[in-house]
Amino acid sequence: MHKTLEWHGSIDGSLDLLDQRLLPNEVVRLECTTVPRLIDAIKTLAVRGAPAIGVAAGFGLVLALQNVQPNINTAIRELARAKKELAASRPTAVNLFYALDRVNTAACQFTSQCPTASINQLREIVLAQAQAIYDEDVEMCRRIGQNGAPLIPDGGAVLTHCNAGALATAGQGTALSLLYEAARQGKRFRVYVDETRPLLQGARLTAWECKQAGLDAVLICDNMAGSLMKAGKINAVLTGADRIAANGDTANKIGTYSLSVLAKYHAIPFYIAAPSSTFDLSIASGTQIPIEERSPAEVTAFAGKTIAPTDIAVYNPAFDVTDAANISAIITERGIINDPDSDNIRLHLA
Ligand code: MRU
Repeated sequence: MHKTLEWHGSIDGSLDLLDQRLLPNEVVRLECTTVPRLIDAIKTLAVRGAPAIGVAAGFGLVLALQNVQPNINTAIRELARAKKELAASRPTAVNLFYALDRVNTAACQFTSQCPTASINQLREIVLAQAQAIYDEDVEMCRRIGQNGAPLIPDGGAVLTHCNAGALATAGQGTALSLLYEAARQGKRFRVYVDETRPLLQGARLTAWECKQAGLDAVLICDNMAGSLMKAGKINAVLTGADRIAANGDTANKIGTYSLSVLAKYHAIPFYIAAPSSTFDLSIASGTQIPIEERSPAEVTAFAGKTIAPTDIAVYNPAFDVTDAANISAIITERGIINDPDSDNIRLHLA
């Protein structure tokens, strides 16, 4: 497996990314040495997927301190500035805000406890915290997979949307982690991969990742899911999440909500796999989740070719919200939340 992202070297090092804009045609690494370069990589989806965005942003705060004046107060101001800029890169994935807050809080706590510390000691603290988020993500992915693998139907088929695999995390993914663990346990199943218009994370990324892993993967267009369900070819739907509200409403790639309605209609279980860092208990329901809107050009062009009048009005939300009532279970690194609601989510995360 190619590493999705990795910090290279010491506090003077850089963030090494697999450039997902070029997959599956080219496997190219992208070295991020500055915050602006990382922000561009996040905005243009060179690195993407909620957990991976969070991990990358944590390392972004290490980059922010690389050319700063050797003065602790200046460094803390620089961290706050970089945090604000990175936070503005993509609004929906809550892991971004989780990682930025955690690294920045560790830095502020350190400087208030050790006011005479050197700038390099502060930089070591920031790097250690970013690396801890990375390491925890790897472990959470593995546990999510182990917890959820029993839900994968032996001899059946699972439908997935967008990419919630290794390419979206530091580890082996969230939704796809269940499949990897189930395959390791000897289960045989098929995975149907939605192409995921408009940016084709399913066709370009999940299809590639599944092939690399040797899974029995079949690519379909987004508008084929309903008829496959009707034909009895899908036994479960399994996706990741960008943010889960306190009541279980879940934001994920646009099209996820429609799949949940289709699954409910056809009495097919609908599962979300996500680490606890994807829950946002500060918001009561999905109506408060900010939904990113992206460029009209992503809809009016396909693979670099214009496919619609360029002056047509376009609506291009990158995510939608699936009501908790449509979700059969959420799988986290701690276990399984069946029929998620405010009470059982609070208990699960306590
Ligand atoms: O726009 P993207 O490619 O970042 O969207 C990613 C998704 O919607 C994923 O399903 C989600 O982040 C979960 S990733 C484990």
